[in-house]
Amino acid sequence: MQTINQLDALQDSISDLRKTGTRVALVPTMGALHAGHIALVTAAKQLADAVVVSIFVNPAQFAPHEDLDAYPRTLERDAQLLRPLGVDVVWAPNAATVYPRGFATKIHVDGPSEHFDGAARPGHFDGVALVVAKLFNQVRPDFALFGEKDFQQLAVIRQMVRDLDFAVKIVGVPIVRDADGLALSSRNVYLSAEERRSALALPNALHDAAKAIREGRDVRTAMEAATGALLTAGFDRVDYFALADAATLEPLDDFDGRSARLLAAAKIGKTRLIDNIAV
Ligand code: PAF
Repeated sequence: MQTINQLDALQDSISDLRKTGTRVALVPTMGALHAGHIALVTAAKQLADAVVVSIFVNPAQFAPHEDLDAYPRTLERDAQLLRPLGVDVVWAPNAATVYPRGFATKIHVDGPSEHFDGAARPGHFDGVALVVAKLFNQVRPDFALFGEKDFQQLAVIRQMVRDLDFAVKIVGVPIVRDADGLALSSRNVYLSAEERRSALALPNALHDAAKAIREGRDVRTAMEAATGALLTAGFDRVDYFALADAATLEPLDDFDGRSARLLAAAKIGKTRLIDNIAV
């Protein structure tokens, strides 16, 4: 496994892989790897002959008041985790390599980025789309794998790939949860023991609301009950708890049996958690 941080070395390495007709899968990450990322790599290994994992904490997707500086950076530990999985390349550029002086391009994907995290974190998906587009051009993968925990991100990336004709197949991988149900996230390390216990209310509220909606309960009533349950459990703020069309991410007021997703984001202490569930 090679760890590369210069673009020309990456491109040489990818060209070498391609000479043998190898199909390449890319797993984009911001590091601080956990079992959710391992599931992405395992799925990538099944699809492709070579796997590239990118590790880059992307400043463009953090607002000035967000946790860019505090975001866990654990490159050596991450590399140790990836080596036994048969990853070929870890692409770990620094910010000046990705965004050199004079960098001036922006990408904005309308549609799926409009609501939910797009509204709560203005500019966030522009930053995600920008870095993912750059990663696609740098690695030129046949497949790129993303976790469904960032369900809206996945929809934004699918839209961008369609709109900009990227020759990459996007693969969504189901959420990996702790034994008690909390979705794995690099941000879970911020939670105190007490917050960690209370955080469980998030997957529980999603589960209860999805069941209520499937059983025909009014969507708005179910959302209000779920929001109340989170605040009672100790969450300080609920950014959204909403039903959306699973493909377009348009908010839905009613459930008509077509593919829908419940999405939620809420803050507990200093930590903002997101999660989602199919309905
Ligand atoms: O999901 C993430 O970890 C990031 O948003 C991504 C896709 C690696 C882009 O920085």
